[in-house]
This record gives sequence, structure tokens and C-alpha cells, in this order.
Amino acid sequence: MINNSHKPLTPQDSKEKSSYPVDQIIDNSNTDFDLYLKMDSEWTLYAGAGYHWTLAELNRLMQSGHRILYYNIADKAQVEAYKLIYQTVNIDESAPPRERLVNLTDTAAALTKILYQHPVTAAAIHKIEQIAKAMVSCIEEDLACVAALGKLANHDDYTYYHSARVCAYALAIASQMTQTDRLALTDMAVGALLHDIGKAKIDLTILHKKGALTPNEWITMRQHPQFGGDLTSSTMLSLVPKEIILHHHEKPDGSGYPHNLTARELLEEVKIVNFADIFDALTTNRPYQVSRTHFEALDFIRHKMTGHVHKESFEAIIAILGSDTSGKK
Ligand SMILES: [Fe+2]
Ligand SMILES: [Fe+2]
Repeated sequence: MINNSHKPLTPQDSKEKSSYPVDQIIDNSNTDFDLYLKMDSEWTLYAGAGYHWTLAELNRLMQSGHRILYYNIADKAQVEAYKLIYQTVNIDESAPPRERLVNLTDTAAALTKILYQHPVTAAAIHKIEQIAKAMVSCIEEDLACVAALGKLANHDDYTYYHSARVCAYALAIASQMTQTDRLALTDMAVGALLHDIGKAKIDLTILHKKGALTPNEWITMRQHPQFGGDLTSSTMLSLVPKEIILHHHEKPDGSGYPHNLTARELLEEVKIVNFADIFDALTTNRPYQVSRTHFEALDFIRHKMTGHVHKESFEAIIAILGSDTSGKK
């Protein structure tokens, strides 16, 4: 319904405006910019930033002859992000879990790529939540479907695919550890999908560097959790995703960054995503390493990373992947 209608004209309302066709507003979407009606040469704020649209309302608006709304030119970046996100990111929930999880990973990677170039808007968070919910459904139907992610492990767009795979691994681990609350799982999934969003502020020459990073480049890279915290601090994200973004490189023994927190200071969801992050990094081709198989990675963690990883997550993923790695080299 009409939002904040007939609000008195403010200096913001008087700014230069551009048109936006109502038939280009998507059902079940959030617009991250104020949208105005022009009536008798006066602007009326119709939908404030963050407004959620339904098909019924869009139809009503069109039927009453309002085919054009207007936005402030100053909001152009938000308008472009909205168009791109809703045109690019479509979720098909009809395929079986393994195939669907691979499709969702492709979709999440496409959205992550957009987010590296545009603001983290309410529309973006809404789409992230839809992907997170769809991933939760996949894992609920088939916990072991994460094994299907192996074929995406060496995709060229590592930076964008990594977060989606981390999300799937984290969901499987949490489910194996008997977390069944859909809202809690979705909250963690949103955080996992966005955990590296701070890398959006890292120079591309460092982010996509083919060779090993120099010590100074590592110093820059290690700032990404704080950058992520800064980028999302004023968004509508809840506590768990924000904690995951800021603290996913902390370690149970306190040797992580940026705040050297220890296991008892970290949320369980943060510890699970931290483990999933490490597991994905170990099983992926990187400039400084050739990827390990799932079982080689578990073997490496068991022997080389004691104290640096969440023990319960380690045990959960062994159970999920269906075999103990003891004795394997
Ligand atoms: Fe990270
Ligand atoms: Fe990561």
C-alpha cells in the first residue's frame, strides 16, 4: 500500500529526478531508493528506500494509471544495483538437491560478483536471503549433497564461488551437529555467503594476483574482515551475519585476526564458517597451492592444524563425507 504518501515536500524531494517504469519493478523485491509519484506537478513520496513490493500492489498501481515512478538521480548507483540483481539472479528450486546446489552456487557467485562492484543494498540482502533459504532446503533434503561441490572447486572465478561453497559446507556441518532451526541456519548461511564481502575493498591486482602475495599484500588482504564489518555495519543484517563477516578469521586458540578472540568468545556459527572457509581453501587450487581432495584436506587438518580449527566441525564433516581419514596419507 502507499507508503509515506502525501509527505510534505523536503529539499531531498525537490532534487533532480529520473523516471522508472512501474512494469520494471519486480514482484517480491526491495527497492533501495525513494520512489515518487508526480501529481499535479508535485512530487509525492510513494515508496521509501527499502520498500518491499508485491505483484498485487504493482497491478493496482498500473490499473490506477500510474505507470511511471521517479527516483532521485543521486540514487543512480542503487537503481543500477537493483536492476542488475533482479535481472541476473534467478532461483530455480525444481531440480534435485545435488543439481540444485550446484545451480545455487552459480547463482550466489553471480550475485557476489555484483556485490563486489555495487553497494550492499536491501535488494542484495533480500536476494542473499532467498539463496540462503534455498540452500538450507537442499541440505535438509540431502545432507551429503555438498559432495557435488567438488566439481566447482577449481572454477576460474575463485573469489566469487568460494563464498557459496563455504555456505554449503557450513550448512551441512551445522545440520550434522543437530542444528535444525531453519531461521538459525538461514541466518548463518547469509553470513557465510557474505563472509568475504570486505574483499570488495581490496585492490583487484592483489585480489586476483596469480602468484603468491608479498608480506605487505598480506597485510592489506588481512584487513578484509574489518572492511566487511564497515561495509555492512549500517545494513539490515542481523547479529550473526555481522559477527561472521567480522570474525571469520579468528581461531579457537586466539591466534586469528582481527581481534585475537578465543573459542569461548566466538559464536558457534562463526566457528563453523571459519572451519568451512579453511576446508574450501584447502580443497581449491590457489596461486600458492594445488588443491587437495576432501580426504587429503581432512588429513592435513588433523595433523597440521590442531588448535586452529573447530573440532566439532571437523568431526561433523568427516561424518558427512562418509569416511574417517585416519590412516590415509
Ligand atoms: Fe576471509
Ligand atoms: Fe573466505
